[in-house]
Amino acid sequence: MADNSLAVIVLAAGMGTRMKSALPKVMHPLAGRPMIAHLMGTVNELGPDRVVVVLGPDMEDVARAVAPAQTVVQSDRLGTGHAVMRAREALGDFAGDVLVLYGDTPLLTSATLERLVAERRGPADPAVVVLGFKPEAPNHYGRLVVGGEGLKAIVEWKDATPEQRNIPLCNSGVMAIDGRRLWRLGGRLTNENAKGEYYLTDLVALARADGASCGFVLGESDELAGVNSRAELAMAEAAVQRRLRGRAMEGGVTLIAPDTVWLAWDTVLGRDVVVWPHVVFGPGVTIGDGVTIKGFCHLEGCEVAEGAEIGPFARLRPGAKIGASAHIGNFVEIKKATIETRAKVNHLSYVGDARVGEGANIGAGTITCNYDGFQKLFTDIGAGAFIGSNTALVAPVTVGDGAVVGAGSVLTRDVAADALAVARGTQTEIKGGGERFRTAKRAAKAAAEKKR
Ligand code: UD1
Ligand code: MG
Repeated sequence: MADNSLAVIVLAAGMGTRMKSALPKVMHPLAGRPMIAHLMGTVNELGPDRVVVVLGPDMEDVARAVAPAQTVVQSDRLGTGHAVMRAREALGDFAGDVLVLYGDTPLLTSATLERLVAERRGPADPAVVVLGFKPEAPNHYGRLVVGGEGLKAIVEWKDATPEQRNIPLCNSGVMAIDGRRLWRLGGRLTNENAKGEYYLTDLVALARADGASCGFVLGESDELAGVNSRAELAMAEAAVQRRLRGRAMEGGVTLIAPDTVWLAWDTVLGRDVVVWPHVVFGPGVTIGDGVTIKGFCHLEGCEVAEGAEIGPFARLRPGAKIGASAHIGNFVEIKKATIETRAKVNHLSYVGDARVGEGANIGAGTITCNYDGFQKLFTDIGAGAFIGSNTALVAPVTVGDGAVVGAGSVLTRDVAADALAVARGTQTEIKGGGERFRTAKRAAKAAAEKKR
């Protein structure tokens, strides 16, 4: 009886020395989350029965990033074959299909993995199916040796003959293996080779020696690119961004200059959102239908409701909630504040730890003074209030519904609903004082010049 259950083993015990980083390689982020989290997302799309991640020692942060997947530690990194055998500790005598992936190939898609698993479950009942590819620069990848009856062996570059090194078909590292045969075959792996490692790739020749068949499926190079250096990380980021932008546009978003817009893995954009050039979305952003985001805005951890207009040059920080049809203009920073429906904060303002009521208008240069050096304090501005330009609201402070605050005020006390408050020096005027001032100054200057 065929067992159609699926286990996935992700190998991630390597530190990735070429990254020259204190962070394990698989924790470097792409579109705002660790690359291993991208891969785990793809794995989850397959709906596997079991998932095991093989980690090196001291990789608790990786274990947290892959939770709830089970993890096993491979303390002595003796090769990819050895790493897979470490996963047996978690999988026991699992007898379904086993998919082996490498943690540093974040661009894999679930469609490709499904093709691989389908081939494994095909009529030939192969022991191993390998995902092969033809990279532009095959370099040091293992090579697939193919004959009339399918895949015969994988030879590692270091062990390959000059003829084998000319084979364009390479091993991506991704394999689907029949779990009924894996553990037995794996027990027969040796480290008698150029690298002195237990190669997972030797499973193919071992299975063939037993009379089993092996096969391969051809994959796309741009999906199989591994990340081993910062330059490759940047290339992977570019690839992830291209996918995210494509998905956004398919969903009904206009990106005027897609290459200049940076999205996060979880950015949610409604229909008919228009994003002008040079906008950066950090994690945790949700944008409602019909919102326009003009150029050079930076958003993270915020919500913008339908029909609002943001920017240019606006910064929405975590906890910013912008209501429907509200306007946030240039050089405005909003943090942990709710700007209600149709309210306007159009120029040069900081609004933090605050509520701006429905339809309120916040004048240019208004600042909520939310921090006294010890605590963050709240500012509450009522519906329809009008705050004059260059007002400082010293929190905690409340401005009632419909109140008007004169420009240049420094508010330290609450303002009642519909009141008019002015809190600034009183203007005085001296008749003819300007002319007297100029006469005195002219005379003083002339006297000083005569002396020289
Ligand atoms: C491996 C393949 C090679 C293939 C290439 C694709 C083998 C023997 N060779 O070579 O055919 O073309 O990948 O990139 O498998 N790992 C562990 N524990 C170990 C060793 C490795 O977890 O003891 C993990 C690494 O963290 C990495 C992955 O396995 O994620 C691959 O290991 P790596 O050393 O990069 O293998 P390659 O030499 O690149
Ligand atoms: Mg490698």
